Amino acid sequence: MRKISLIILAYCVTGFISCKNSTTYNSEETSSAFLTSVLDIDQKVATLLKQMTLEEKIGQMNQYNGFWDITGPAPSSGDAAKKYEHLRKGYVGSMLNVRGVENVRKVQQIAVEETRLGIPLIIGFDVIHGYETISPIPLAESASWDLEAIKKSAQVAAEEAAAAGINWTFAPMVDISRDARWGRVMEGAGEDPYLGSKIAFARVQGFQGSDLSQHTTIAACAKHFAGYGFAESGREYNTVDVGTSTLNNIIFPPFQATIDAGVRTFMNSFNELNGIPVTGNKYLQRDILKGQWEFDGFVVSDWGSIEEMVFHGHAKDGKHAAEIAANAGSDMDMESYLYVTELANLVREGSVKEAYIDDAARRILRVKFELGLFEDPYKYCDRQREKEVIGQQAFHDAALDMAKKSIVLLKNDNQLLPLKKQGQKIALIGALASDKTSPLGNWRIAAKDNTAVSVLEGMQAYKDNQLTYAKGADLSLGKTKFTAELNINTTDRSEFPQAIALAKTADVVVMVLGEVGYQSGEARSRTTLGLPGVQQELLEAVFKVNKNIVLVLNNGRPLVLNWHQEHLPAIVEAWQLGTQSGNAIAQVLYGDYNPSGKLPMSFPRAVGQVPIYYNYKNTGRPSIPASNTVFWSHFQDVENTPLYPFGYGLSYTTFEYSALKAKVVSNKKVEVSVMLTNSGKLTGKEVVQLYIRDHFASVTRPVRELKGFELVRLEPNQSQRIVFTLTEKELGFYDNQGNFIVEPGDYSIFIGGDSNANLHTKITLK
Ligand code: BGC
Repeated sequence: MRKISLIILAYCVTGFISCKNSTTYNSEETSSAFLTSVLDIDQKVATLLKQMTLEEKIGQMNQYNGFWDITGPAPSSGDAAKKYEHLRKGYVGSMLNVRGVENVRKVQQIAVEETRLGIPLIIGFDVIHGYETISPIPLAESASWDLEAIKKSAQVAAEEAAAAGINWTFAPMVDISRDARWGRVMEGAGEDPYLGSKIAFARVQGFQGSDLSQHTTIAACAKHFAGYGFAESGREYNTVDVGTSTLNNIIFPPFQATIDAGVRTFMNSFNELNGIPVTGNKYLQRDILKGQWEFDGFVVSDWGSIEEMVFHGHAKDGKHAAEIAANAGSDMDMESYLYVTELANLVREGSVKEAYIDDAARRILRVKFELGLFEDPYKYCDRQREKEVIGQQAFHDAALDMAKKSIVLLKNDNQLLPLKKQGQKIALIGALASDKTSPLGNWRIAAKDNTAVSVLEGMQAYKDNQLTYAKGADLSLGKTKFTAELNINTTDRSEFPQAIALAKTADVVVMVLGEVGYQSGEARSRTTLGLPGVQQELLEAVFKVNKNIVLVLNNGRPLVLNWHQEHLPAIVEAWQLGTQSGNAIAQVLYGDYNPSGKLPMSFPRAVGQVPIYYNYKNTGRPSIPASNTVFWSHFQDVENTPLYPFGYGLSYTTFEYSALKAKVVSNKKVEVSVMLTNSGKLTGKEVVQLYIRDHFASVTRPVRELKGFELVRLEPNQSQRIVFTLTEKELGFYDNQGNFIVEPGDYSIFIGGDSNANLHTKITLK
């Protein structure tokens, strides 16, 4: 391998001096004035671009998955050999799923030392909720409504991933979803565009920090643009058809928030939107994202989504797909191999403008410069740092903190919780209670199996109780990523008797039930939302002998919990909480942490209600007419409301709201305040939520829309006045022409601890 000193290399790639094999630069570019000038990134990119052949520019637009055991020999035949050859020619701009300093260094070395221009690779990876130290799944983190904690969690993930050679994460996923059948709800922030936007902003800030060139920060990627969360019937990759108003007011806002936060990349997605696959959607990518929103980063396709346009029935073949995608503004091809094989010919034939290629390459190079990869392509490849940073205690502390904040207390009759710390006989039941992999959830590729603290381990730390444990039913099937998890544990009841025997003699039974980690996530759609397998049977069998049950749920999506709400005294929504899961759950169960999480998605009463969301439209027939006919918008068999509404969650203390006031300062400014009192006996936190309703508008508005929230910590008997200012941004909406408007008229303002808040007042905008 050719060795070049890093300094020479940095100059070489920025075009300051000529290097071996490179073309000769013109005198202006190599003049000493040019050499010493403090060029901004755009100038450096322009200089570099001028030296690149068409194939090299297209190479920047080509992303390959890790293609051989990088620590082993390079492949001599097949697909991998082709990729290797492309890498050496400078026809690869990025790789994904190459991780670990040694591996990243190897591929980077080829790009930097063996290609003509030595342009470094950008290395992407799905750092979704942690790298090796895993924090709660994003849906769970969102239940904290704690933006600082969420930002911190992304910061930690970035730092750990960066230490392993990664400089670009495919996160945050900011797809709004109202459909719990869709497995990827675990990866987003839930159903609400306002909360989703705040969280999207915090996550981007966390990953990218204030300076992308630091070795602790990585580029973020807002995905999947757009509409992926609205797959029909929640079936993965399914068709999406949504109207203008939903697109503008529900789907777009979190993406816009990531732009406000300075996100450097976007990912498009697998779905079609209103008949056009989004990967080939010019309106979304060129007109909205790069046009109206002035996004100057780059757009990567989703895995193979360029080629999938053929299956969608939008492109006639791969070449046509490449043409459509490039013209529509997809800058980088993830694993379709079509840009690298087809684009140059398409340009020569005049089907794709070279200006589009230049624009895409420019965007990609710009991000590489911002990351500091040209100054030091190996800045993420420090072995010592990798050893010291990954898995450090501070990351575990942050994961534990985030996990506790993510837990939602759904029910707690007669203060069954917190558990007493002494003298209680506790039977812990459920295979998930001792599982050390499932709590890691989905999207935890770099985490090792069996590394999460289990609930059993967490509870064992409280030594003064008598704790016994039985699985009751095994979950051992379906733990691996690519098997069909829906078949888990459907038949084997052989361990029921042991669990029932323990429950009979216990004071309290803690049952940990739910979904295994890989039961939600990509390609994990479900048509039922109950406890999978024999778990419900087990629960009811235990309930027959002991009604004092605390149900601890581990799951990646809202479930249907009617029986549970009706029969069980206590229910804790503990999602999949990551590496520190068991410690977090134990601390909540024993009252060392007072839960304050609030649901980021509505929990339905029946699958038939789905999609269900709090910010629905009123319809023309919203309630039972006076004559008591059936002709109003409802189901015959289940009421319209969810079992647990958006924003809902209890605490071990209680809160009271009073003295709601609203003052219209102008049409663009409304001041609202409310008094919050901790009326219980423990210190606790409450998420104060403000909703508005615009009663009549040129485009109908939802019955409620979240427009403000604040996380407040109060001692018992302490009161605090919470003040919100609503501006144009909160009071307005997008009309169907895409204009943002605030309309005069009557608005209701509701404040409380969930989306059913009934304390309200009215204002009128003139
Ligand atoms: C997912 C993306 C992910 C990509 C790379 C795709 O299957 O939809 O969200 O970033 O794979 O792993």
